[in-house]
Amino acid sequence: AAIYSAGAYGHRPRVPVEPAALYAAARRRMSRQAWAYVAGSAGMQRTDEANQAAFQRYPIVPRMLRDVRERSLEVTLFGYDLRAPVLFAPVGVLEMAHRDAERAVATAARALRLPMVLSTQGSVPMEETAQALGANPMWFQLYWSNSDDLAASLVRRAEASGAQAIVVTLDTHVLGWRTKDLDLGYLPFAQGQGIAQYLSDPVFLDLVRARVDRRAAGSDDLDAPATPAQRPTPAAIRTLVSISRHYPGSLRDNLRSPLPRAAVETFLDVFPSPGLTWDDLAKLRDWTRLPIVLKGIQSVEDAETALDHGVDGIVVSNHGGRQVDGAVASLDALNAVAPAVGGRVPVLFDSGIRGGADIFTALALGASAVLIGRPWLYGLAIDGASGAQAVMERLVAELDLTMALCGIASVEQVTRDCLASDTLIS
Ligand code: FNR
Repeated sequence: AAIYSAGAYGHRPRVPVEPAALYAAARRRMSRQAWAYVAGSAGMQRTDEANQAAFQRYPIVPRMLRDVRERSLEVTLFGYDLRAPVLFAPVGVLEMAHRDAERAVATAARALRLPMVLSTQGSVPMEETAQALGANPMWFQLYWSNSDDLAASLVRRAEASGAQAIVVTLDTHVLGWRTKDLDLGYLPFAQGQGIAQYLSDPVFLDLVRARVDRRAAGSDDLDAPATPAQRPTPAAIRTLVSISRHYPGSLRDNLRSPLPRAAVETFLDVFPSPGLTWDDLAKLRDWTRLPIVLKGIQSVEDAETALDHGVDGIVVSNHGGRQVDGAVASLDALNAVAPAVGGRVPVLFDSGIRGGADIFTALALGASAVLIGRPWLYGLAIDGASGAQAVMERLVAELDLTMALCGIASVEQVTRDCLASDTLIS
């Protein structure tokens, strides 16, 4: 109500409400490379488009004359009460959107009391973000690299930092075919961006030192590294400076030394994990007692296999269309997966949500909660912490309003009955 009356009384928000205006404003604030990386998807961008278009195929049917004065958005996930079924999705390389990166998002999440899922590709070490979050719920998203020791170390740190769940992203064992980035010759990680979790990790730093030693001894048998094609951006220089701080010696000498470069090369080496299989999940169970959530499930079969392996939850997601171009729209996958899971574990959802009504649709199709990616990232680019906060606050407000308009008073009442049946559509 506060958001609505602010609008109605002539206050024009810094961060646009209307989606197309939001994207345009964010684009103006970002470099070409940053915009291409953030807004772009895989291939011909078909899945990204399909993700958003899918919502029109599940129309909402509002119901009238029901008392909706008292409404609750609360849900319980893994034993924790959430004030709304909405989380900040794990998004890497936030320094491209705003120099405060995770620190700003933590401020926004804390103000809204919504969980933040920290990315492995962070711009700020997780311990620092955890501190900024205080008692706010925090989950950690794991990219399980080809070094189990590194993966275990990240999980240990997340647990020590107070994470309430580990989200393993399965769909990015190699990076998708990102056409816009390829044309710009741009890979943020190759410039030292988005690798702060690694640079602050003892296991990773040992790998870097070993690499430097091998090179010094002339026994470096690794392939030629992916060299940054262009001059490092100012953000990358900042990162390289921070890499260098992990080593003794003067900053100047360190920047000239093989260390920063070896760190980037080590990351590029260690990241791809095409060998990972279902059997590996048992190791994760040994490393942590936290709930394990698998992100990137897109089929009923994989959802069943996940349950067979005893996971605590899944996220139906196609990474915002950034991995397989032409992949099934995430909402269609949810429509198939949620009934098959049948409430045995929570089914979370992301990819394509752009408004509060979209959240309503996902809940109606069986999602327990949703993750939001790009929308708050655009708010972050425009106005830092308050921008990210404004976008998420409005999504929750629009969800609440949609519930009221549909005659729904609580999240558990948002069911398939709220959507048009096939007969109504045809
Ligand atoms: C992502 N996403 C992502 N996912 C993940 O598990 N780890 C990560 O580091 C990242 N990084 C990342 C960067 C950028 C720039 C984007 C846009 C996305 C995927 C993210 O968690 C989520 O699945 C999608 O963003 C959801 O789709 P929408 O909401 O952007 O359509």
